[in-house]
Amino acid sequence: MCRHRGNRIVRADDGNAKNFMCSYHGWTYSNEGKLVSVPGLQEAYYGELDVDNLGLVPVAHLESYAGLVFATWAEDAPTLEEYLGDMRWYMDIWFNRRDSGVELIGPDKWVGKFNWKNSTDNFIGDMYHAILSHRSALLARAQSLGVPAAPLSYSRPGNQVSPGNGHGCFAGIYDTPEDYYRRNAVNEDSPLMEYNKSIYDEMLRRLGPSRAHRIGPEHSSVFPNMSWLPNGTVRIWHPRGAGETEVWSFTFVDKAMPEELKRLWRVQCMQSFGPSGLLEQDDMDNWRNSSEAGRSLVARKTPNVISMGAGHEWDNPELPGLSVPNTFSEINQRSMYKRWQEFMDAKSWGDISIDPITATFEGTATMKG
Ligand code: FES
Ligand code: FE
Repeated sequence: MCRHRGNRIVRADDGNAKNFMCSYHGWTYSNEGKLVSVPGLQEAYYGELDVDNLGLVPVAHLESYAGLVFATWAEDAPTLEEYLGDMRWYMDIWFNRRDSGVELIGPDKWVGKFNWKNSTDNFIGDMYHAILSHRSALLARAQSLGVPAAPLSYSRPGNQVSPGNGHGCFAGIYDTPEDYYRRNAVNEDSPLMEYNKSIYDEMLRRLGPSRAHRIGPEHSSVFPNMSWLPNGTVRIWHPRGAGETEVWSFTFVDKAMPEELKRLWRVQCMQSFGPSGLLEQDDMDNWRNSSEAGRSLVARKTPNVISMGAGHEWDNPELPGLSVPNTFSEINQRSMYKRWQEFMDAKSWGDISIDPITATFEGTATMKG
């Protein structure tokens, strides 16, 4: 943000530069944030501008993890490691499985007429909708690939896991390494099968046996607005008011993955999610209508039902956090809205609780990746 009239300084999503010039009146900042040039400094400001104290506002904390960069302006915020807590145990399995870390391709951006909580609610724990909302798309896709469609059943083994701090994910448990090798491979001939096999030893070294092939996290969200799916789609949901969200959609790939596989992974991902994705359209329509109808007079006085799986939580020794041993549960939505309420009521980080890290991190994958 420019210190003169608050204009946006950086408009490109990637690349690098030594200096950044504001497009409004031309104040220019170095890539360290110092104000290095002001048009008319002598003539119009009479040389009286306090240039040394008009650099860009620095972030209070800047940390990276597996190639992802997180920053905050809050001085009293916890470290990224504390903030992620036990969620990192699950994130590692996708983002920190290789020495190279990940890279994000994108973003595609669009604005949807829905509240950001609709989308986080969906990605953090809603397997329930997939059976009905995506039924026709999944049937069509199964038919075109010549594979069986997912069963129409509401009793499916799996674990909705709430690792604390408002984060959440679905954790599948694989019984054999072969199940792991099939991840993201649309059929047995997919080159991703070979790729998954080829990185197994590296994953084992970095993550230990449990996370290398036993646990398979799927839909996931880091509170409040970062979500991803195992097919590679990553979302940042930027609120643009109560009824509008700007979606930033990326595809994550292992940085060290061969280029042709990155392309295959990305194309597969785009076929399901993104502006032209087969499944994305179903979700957007539901979120828009939930958000619009939810703001009506009657809806505001009528609570939603969010009780699925309540009272069935347990401390699964294989999975850090609190789990409901069921594919279908709203444990994660409950924890997300509770966290959101906590944030809304807090005046500073001092009022916000941080769950301790309880996960055991086997292997060599560190926080910095
Ligand atoms: Fe940036 Fe004026 S707003 S130079
Ligand atoms: Fe969906």
